[in-house]
Amino acid sequence: MAFLLGICSSLTVKSVLVGLIALFIATWFYRRPRNLPPGPTGWPLLGYLPNLISAGDEYKNLTRLAKTYGPVFSMNLGGTLVVVVNSFASIKEALSHPNTADRAPTRFFKKMTDDPDALSVGTASGDSWSQQRKFCLSVLRGLGVWRSSFEDAIATEAGCLINGIKEHEGNPFNPAHLLGNAVSNVICSVTLGKRFDYADPKFQQLLKSITRIFEMCEGGDVYTYLPIMEYLSFTSTFKDIESSTRSIIEFLRESVENHQSNLDVDNPKDFIDVFLREIHDNETKNIKSYITKNNMLLTCFDLFTAGTETSSTTLRWALLYMVAYPKVQAKIQQEIDDSVGRNRLPRLADKPQLPYTEATILEVQRLASIAALGVTHMFSKDTNLLGFDIPEGTRLLTNLWAVSRDPSIWSSPEEFKPERFIDEAGSLKPREEHLPFASGRRVCLGEQLAKMELFIFFSHLLHQFSFKKPDESQPLSFEAVNGLTLTPIPFEVCAIPRE
Ligand code: HEM
Repeated sequence: MAFLLGICSSLTVKSVLVGLIALFIATWFYRRPRNLPPGPTGWPLLGYLPNLISAGDEYKNLTRLAKTYGPVFSMNLGGTLVVVVNSFASIKEALSHPNTADRAPTRFFKKMTDDPDALSVGTASGDSWSQQRKFCLSVLRGLGVWRSSFEDAIATEAGCLINGIKEHEGNPFNPAHLLGNAVSNVICSVTLGKRFDYADPKFQQLLKSITRIFEMCEGGDVYTYLPIMEYLSFTSTFKDIESSTRSIIEFLRESVENHQSNLDVDNPKDFIDVFLREIHDNETKNIKSYITKNNMLLTCFDLFTAGTETSSTTLRWALLYMVAYPKVQAKIQQEIDDSVGRNRLPRLADKPQLPYTEATILEVQRLASIAALGVTHMFSKDTNLLGFDIPEGTRLLTNLWAVSRDPSIWSSPEEFKPERFIDEAGSLKPREEHLPFASGRRVCLGEQLAKMELFIFFSHLLHQFSFKKPDESQPLSFEAVNGLTLTPIPFEVCAIPRE
């Protein structure tokens, strides 16, 4: 005892600090399991997190790290182990592994509904996720969303978009707003069974909140699922995201209540009607299910946010590329005029005759790579993957951007060349390495809907207008704003009606 007291009284602040740092380093190295993928060490405790945040453009920084450590590397981000897969082969293999379908726990939705454990299809894991996902896909199929019958709803919205653009009479305008309105209305038709007038203030507030969330989540999905972020819940960024999320959920809650009071269980008209009927049936038969009102409210939030910002951002990139590459634009218009003519608008059935139009959409998606780092997954068990031993709970980041720029897959990957998706016979040549929607069991739930939207909106717009850069406007930039998705820097276009 006297010996211990003697040591304590001889300690200085400096020696205690040095001792603590040494202890942290030793603990960190000791805790690092063996046979992990290699990777940067970073700082004690915080690991590589400060480096990643300070460097910005996380998708580019991770791509650079893959050049040093190989296509599969690992790092500590604020005390959480993260594995990053950066090549087509490693992403495919990682996402097809049965142990990688989980999402990390999130407290984000905790206070958004009356049930603190409620989670959406995009954030749930295990049975809750698989049941919700199966349910969503079957409802969307039941409502005809994957079938060509749904194209009329998209075409009607494209008509409203065209009218909105015509109102600008060839003068410069930022297309972001109108595209957001049109794309969001498609998902409104699916979930709420109605579309909104573009001037409706409630609808505008909803869209503003969605855009705000995507803007505020800088760096893609890298930080969303790190437990250390919980300590930042006092920041204005976090509060802003929270209040925007709450306002969308309130809007949806009101709509669910309206649906509830007018529900005709034998004749469900939209996503909300179907899930209310399912809940009613389960209650009658006393069946326990993850299809609860709160889970579904949050799932509607996912459909709204994921379904609005992604497709409209892709269309914005598409218009930017059309303005920058007028020859590509003219070639698409020629193809549409030759196959479809001027007396009607393109339909999905015209797709086989419009390979260059489709190839251009694929090339825009490749270069824009809007979901640069996909959505973070989590290993549900200790797993041997790609020759490495990865502990349960490790986060998995898929660097889709790295694949879209991989020179071993795409010749001159920085160039905009729709021809890379066309074969010698002039037909469309889809490439399995093209992964805008990721892959595996958690592949984008809205992939088919998004493909339909992109084709109808894009082909209708080019059938009706030629897009030009306004005289004396800023030089075009292909730099991306790095939010939850990669969006173009705001730009203006002139839409000249075609004869
Ligand atoms: C061009 C448009 C789109 C792109 C590029 C895109 C991309 C993605 C990506 C990369 C993921 C992550 C997959 C993973 O976890 O590995 C995802 C998930 C998801 N997407 Fe999309 N998406 C698009 C449109 C849509 C639309 C229109 C909807 C709405 C119907 C939607 C709903 C979802 C949902 C709900 C998830 C989560 C699925 C799950 O966790 O099981 N997406 N999307």
